[in-house]
Amino acid sequence: MSNGCRMRLGCCMPWPSEIRTAFPDQRSTGPAVEVIIQSNAEDGCVLGAKIIAKTVREKPDAVLGLATGRTPERLYRELVRMHREEGLDFSRVTTFNLDEYVGLPPEHRQSYRYFMNEHLFRHINIDLANTHVPAGTAQDLQAECRDYEERITAAGGIDVQLLGLGRNGHIGFNEPTGSLRSRTWIKILSEQTLNDNAAVFGDRDAMPRHAVTMGIGTIMEARQVVLLAFGPAKVRAVMEMIEGPLSAICPGSALQAHPRAIVVLDEASAAGLRYASHYRWVDQNKLAWQRYD
Ligand code: GLP
Repeated sequence: MSNGCRMRLGCCMPWPSEIRTAFPDQRSTGPAVEVIIQSNAEDGCVLGAKIIAKTVREKPDAVLGLATGRTPERLYRELVRMHREEGLDFSRVTTFNLDEYVGLPPEHRQSYRYFMNEHLFRHINIDLANTHVPAGTAQDLQAECRDYEERITAAGGIDVQLLGLGRNGHIGFNEPTGSLRSRTWIKILSEQTLNDNAAVFGDRDAMPRHAVTMGIGTIMEARQVVLLAFGPAKVRAVMEMIEGPLSAICPGSALQAHPRAIVVLDEASAAGLRYASHYRWVDQNKLAWQRYD
């Protein structure tokens, strides 16, 4: 299927049966992916924060899906600023993080629980009891995965899920070839991901090789998804995610079948996109209610 065909499919035709089967709860009628190209990562993070803040203002007891990594750090600083200066209220918000390294306790400086406490939770008025990160030290990891899914369901599902993008196209820790219908599970990290994240640990051998992560099926059930990807290292993954085939080889490409997926890029990460001028055109011609800024 050509790129042009796929884009038109999202607008006016029902999804092919194999995609409907893969994502039975989704009824897509909008564009495949809403691509917004900002001039730099700073602006991209501020826009991402505005989208999340809008959800929280409209629904004070919103359920947020959160991500870690270098990409969203600036977005969290913006949410903290909005809380302090604009009174953005997190007191009734619930959060679920995408993933956690197996074996790292919450107090470990490289654990994702530690990251979230440091970058967001301790700076805002959220009730820590309402913040969820998978327990990488659970005795029974499979039971932890099932329990995580049940907690998301009990909270009413995720209103907006924030995502980053791995250089190999992973979302959460869903590495290439993982099932597009996967639920929260244990993933073996790819060598590329180990190499990419090793700097944070100082030494690749000190890094866990496994992680608990929401599955792609779990992520696809979020009512809205906002993915951020910045910098030249993400060019290839961004191209494959947005304009490549929907394939488990690029887990992020699953978002092409999501009814409300927004991808926020900077000029550098968007450099390889064939339809970049079209995305800019669409963004420039949005009606007031279609904008997030
Ligand atoms: C990590 C995380 C992902 C993150 C990605 C990109 O391994 N599990 O959630 O989006 O890799 O990380 P970064 O933002 O540091 O480039």
